[in-house]
Amino acid sequence: MIIAVDGTAASGKGTLAKRLAGHFNLAHLDTGALYRGVALRLLRCSEDADISPDLAASEARLLTLDDLNDPDLRLENTSAMASKVASIPAVRQALLTYQQDFAKHPPDDKDGSILDGRDIGTVILPDADIKFFCDADIEIRADRRYQELISRGESAKYADIRAGLAARDDRDKSRPIAPLKPAIDAIMINTGHMSIDQMVKQAITYIV
Ligand code: DC
Repeated sequence: MIIAVDGTAASGKGTLAKRLAGHFNLAHLDTGALYRGVALRLLRCSEDADISPDLAASEARLLTLDDLNDPDLRLENTSAMASKVASIPAVRQALLTYQQDFAKHPPDDKDGSILDGRDIGTVILPDADIKFFCDADIEIRADRRYQELISRGESAKYADIRAGLAARDDRDKSRPIAPLKPAIDAIMINTGHMSIDQMVKQAITYIV
């Protein structure tokens, strides 16, 4: 079984993918972490605000598992940079085969795979068995992210978080290559007024 989960920033797609992976014994890949890893490598090796597509693509080819476990992966400036590097065609190309191989060759003890991101159902795995697209109103998503940061003891401003999410969504939706959009056969899930358990339960009803 191969499942694609796409959606807007902070829509709950990662949580949904993780929970479905546990429920159906699937290997899970958070593909946003790949773009975040490239962003972090760039932030550390270049002071330049203008990203050179060649440098970004070569950093994408050098990505390691250590990069994907870096604690700075979730910082706000990494998120913003990830959305920028994700619009570079050579970066997307460099990460394409890894994602498709991961989906097609899950470890023997797994019954399939689930990938979450922005272009999984449209570009990476157009033949996935099931596709979900998660979204919720920006106010709800921004509030969730705000509560999450506050509960971790981090300082956060609601208005900044909302603006950051909106800018990322706009950039992800408007890029010419692999823009964020639902596949025509995707099941739409509005996660706005649902608990995590309700969201997972609803998704499971489409799979079994
Ligand atoms: O899912 P996330 O917030 O961790 O993703 C970070 C950025 O990476 C997001 O703004 C856009 C980009 N991304 C992408 O373009 N394609 C994907 N499949 C996953 C993420």
